Amino acid sequence: MAKLTILEYPDTRLRTKASPVVDFDAALGTLIGDMLETMYAAPGIGLAATQVDVHQRLLVIDVSADRDQPLVFANPEILAREGVGTMEEGCLSVPGIFDEVDRAASVRVRYQDQNGTFHEAGFEGLLAVCLQHEMDHLDGRLFVDYLSELKRERIRKKLEKDRRERAAHGGSTPVAARAL
Ligand code: NI
Repeated sequence: MAKLTILEYPDTRLRTKASPVVDFDAALGTLIGDMLETMYAAPGIGLAATQVDVHQRLLVIDVSADRDQPLVFANPEILAREGVGTMEEGCLSVPGIFDEVDRAASVRVRYQDQNGTFHEAGFEGLLAVCLQHEMDHLDGRLFVDYLSELKRERIRKKLEKDRRERAAHGGSTPVAARAL
């Protein structure tokens, strides 16, 4: 397995609309393994292929406390949404930034697993939020898009400054385990 580089806002590659996963082969298995390693190392609770510059409709999530329950979603599709929930979100592509976003409180999703088998299931709470956040990535959308232009401008400037400091002094930006 290999750790992949995570693209950071405002990298325009994060705006790419991903294509469906077609080949459920060994290469996909390798990509999933690499994405999980990258997500756990970050550390984050979710990662979309878009964030590692692979533009396929694929995401990995693990919201378990022990970080031992990886979930894989290929070609996820929301069939139904219910309620509204507000949660403070972060994103591995927008390191160190957290803000509240409104999303559906529960979602019914159809998806394929890494073998291509179809599944349909309901998700709520953190998992529902995480799924909606990651699925946004596959359509080139980021959680900061839901914030005001003023906030986005402030975030762009802060990330730029953080990157300059990292380049000058080394080290990495601290990310909370809540990043998606
Ligand atoms: Ni994210």
